[in-house]
Amino acid sequence: MLTTSCDDGDLKPQSNSSETGRRISMQVNFNALKAWPQNYMLTLAAFGADQETPLVSKQFAQPEKESDIQTLELSGLPDDAQTIQIALLTKGRKLIYSFYTHTLDDGDEDVMLRAENLSLASYGRIQQQVFNQYCTACHGAGDRAAGSLYLTADKSHAMLVNATAHAAITNKKRVEPAMPSQSFLIEILEEDLLNYNHTDVLPHDELVTLLKTWISNGANND
Ligand code: HEC
Repeated sequence: MLTTSCDDGDLKPQSNSSETGRRISMQVNFNALKAWPQNYMLTLAAFGADQETPLVSKQFAQPEKESDIQTLELSGLPDDAQTIQIALLTKGRKLIYSFYTHTLDDGDEDVMLRAENLSLASYGRIQQQVFNQYCTACHGAGDRAAGSLYLTADKSHAMLVNATAHAAITNKKRVEPAMPSQSFLIEILEEDLLNYNHTDVLPHDELVTLLKTWISNGANND
């Protein structure tokens, strides 16, 4: 039996023995749980040629502790599935960011995958979910970078971490590793600074929490 429906959250493992599709099981534990998504869905998802919307997906439950390992299964996979991903999706099931990708071989029958200590506050996620979506339009994607700040993928980390802010109203670093409260990046997004007006740029507080968690964990480039 092929599963073609949208089955986030409550897909019961298929026990039908005449089932033809492959079965994938994934064991994973997540780190940086403060950055657990609320307005988005963290899923195990199978993608075909369309890299934007998965063929099937199933949502991870929020664990209590970083050491909690959970196992999710996708069974009855459609034949056109090409990759299995730990994927962050919008509620409309569009891919925002992929934490992990496994490419399926034709020979793969039932596959058991494992990913340990996946950080939810990875820089790749921040670049795609925050900077690319809400910042680069003004900060570097076109022919200008407001405030001389480039937040494009090739430049953003070096422009932020340990870099002194230009703004006359602060002597903070843009990002001070391990110290979100000393980082101008957080201040500009949270406080209504005169002439800066960045408090409405992000649609959800959890994206600021994601940035704070990344800074608290050392502001690494991975
Ligand atoms: C609509 C355009 C626009 C968008 C979108 C925007 N910014 Fe800005 N940003 C500006 C402008 C303009 C300045 C410079 C203000 C000035 O220098 O007077 C600025 C300045 C900044 C600064 C201060 C840089 C410094 O060293 O002084 C930071 C940090 C910053 N933006 C971060 C962000 C982040 C993060 C996002 C996305 C969440 C974002 N901005 C989205 C227009 C924008």
